[in-house]
Amino acid sequence: MSGKNYSKAVEDIKSRVSIVEVIGSVTPLKRAGSGYMCCCPFHKEKTPSFSVSESRNFYHCFGCGESGDAIKFVQKYYNLDFQGAVERLCQQYGIVIEETRSGDDQKRDEYYEANRLAARYFYDTLSKSANKGYEYMAKRGLSAKTMQWFGIGYTGEGWSGLTDHLLKNGVSRETLLALGLSSEKNGKLFDKFRSRVMFPIINVRGKVIGFGGRIIGDGEPKYLNSPESPVYLKKLNLYGINRSKDAILREGFAILVEGYMDCVSLYQSGVENVTASCGTALTPEQAKLLKRYTKKVVLCYDSDKAGINAALRGIDVLREAGMEVSVLNVDDGKDPDEYVKKHGKDGFLDLLKNKAMPDVDYKVSILRGNYDLKDQTQGIKFFKEIASIIRGLSPVEADIYIQKYAREYSISEGALRREVESTQPEKEKSGQIVARQDVSESRQQDVVTAADVNLERMLIRLIMVKSSYLDKLSGYPEGFVTAKGRAIKDAMEFEYKPGAEFEASSLANSLTDEESEYLYRIIDNIQIGDSDELAFADCIERLDDKRAAKRVHRIHDILEMADAMPEEVVDQEQINKLLTELQTLQNRNRGKN
Ligand code: GTP
Ligand code: MN
Repeated sequence: MSGKNYSKAVEDIKSRVSIVEVIGSVTPLKRAGSGYMCCCPFHKEKTPSFSVSESRNFYHCFGCGESGDAIKFVQKYYNLDFQGAVERLCQQYGIVIEETRSGDDQKRDEYYEANRLAARYFYDTLSKSANKGYEYMAKRGLSAKTMQWFGIGYTGEGWSGLTDHLLKNGVSRETLLALGLSSEKNGKLFDKFRSRVMFPIINVRGKVIGFGGRIIGDGEPKYLNSPESPVYLKKLNLYGINRSKDAILREGFAILVEGYMDCVSLYQSGVENVTASCGTALTPEQAKLLKRYTKKVVLCYDSDKAGINAALRGIDVLREAGMEVSVLNVDDGKDPDEYVKKHGKDGFLDLLKNKAMPDVDYKVSILRGNYDLKDQTQGIKFFKEIASIIRGLSPVEADIYIQKYAREYSISEGALRREVESTQPEKEKSGQIVARQDVSESRQQDVVTAADVNLERMLIRLIMVKSSYLDKLSGYPEGFVTAKGRAIKDAMEFEYKPGAEFEASSLANSLTDEESEYLYRIIDNIQIGDSDELAFADCIERLDDKRAAKRVHRIHDILEMADAMPEEVVDQEQINKLLTELQTLQNRNRGKN
């Protein structure tokens, strides 16, 4: 929908770029049988066990098990996200990524520009001559350098300084209102933010998408935030990530805090791998954004009740996204900002080293405070709660924690284990595991059949009936097989608001005529029987089938390649695992027929 047509670029890469050339350009390849071999660039080895197949267009390492196509290789090798890898390959091989510009994109550019001018205005006001904004930030310990680095500004004290400035610079009234920079009274525009310190919210691409404005000193509301707009969807962004992403990559983990000041203050102290969720409950989209840079997160929220509850919810959201989570409570001061001002970088890092708890331990420690273990009934409840926490874990983790808590609270390991297993765990859908798979893998579309297109149409129809199906489909990008279908799905993701249903007319705003015609035809022509739930479950099953079939195919390929490798480099354990997986997949199919 917006910006660039990546799907088309991916197709071009697949048809035009040779995986042998891509890998061969960073490490020398030797011919071996029908393919090529080299030492694995992803793990240390002396004998080559990394195999590249030109015809199958993928690589596989028989030592470490790493596997994928050219895009996945570039992603891993250069530590890029999917789009970054596509862009790199396109640049290298002269593939043009086409623009898919619509009137809407143009409007978005105007909004970005207006926000940029506003940020500039606020920063100039704060930095050019003495003012209360600078004074306040300095009093709170921020250096001029930090204010500049985060673009922190000040509104000035009048009623319409910003509005007048932007109107003079050609920004339209409509834009000022849409961005929530101005409000209208009796036909006249006024500044929405007055006498506030301004934190520009900047996305990873460096665009100013909104602002948080703090009152100077005490008063209500303490923070005033930009409303949502076509360029600012709160659920999609994290404050400060534009500045901290490099440090997050470097350190291998991210520290997630609640507030603007926590983020800026930790950064200034030298703890740079920090970003803030800014008041809103952490969303799956924010988790996904963070996961581009790391899989490890330390939640460091305020030490009050609200902070604890936010951390408990945050754990679930991050885990669901496949992240490894721990929690750090500051034990001096009300938030990380106060803590680091008092104890400095080293003090904070010490705390992190000694006090951060794995998420499971954190949950149990919070629970522990709710029960009096001397009371038998309460004790039993406590253990049942522990069991239900453990139930959500992977088998290996579960085993570790069962042993640990059995020991810690002197109950029998067997009893705790039986309690964990007593309630049927939610059926582990095969999709849940694969949902964490890389997009580049699942995007590998083969031939698109009529059945695939029908499935896509059904999915779109169902999402129009119930928007929450969209969330459930986030792990199945391969369900959308046509360019039009993908455009519609992108538009839906962009407009999604929990609890609200989609309207074709508003989706059409971000679609081309052809795409919205496709959408209308689907709505008009596809009937859903009595139960959309059943229809949806059926779709998911078909998607799982497709995925299983594809995986079977891939495993056959790998096994064939293994036959062509010298025996000593092939990790037999890996092969056994693949064989077991193959058997499971085949049993799954047999179970159906
Ligand atoms: P300081 O008091 O300046 O240190 O702010 P803080 O970051 O410590 O704020 P606090 O812990 O009170 O709140 C955390 C985050 O919640 C803030 O950074 C804001 O994003 C958000 N927030 C706090 N107060 C308000 C409010 O009154 N309105 C809105 N919309 N958001 C708020
Ligand atoms: Mn604070």
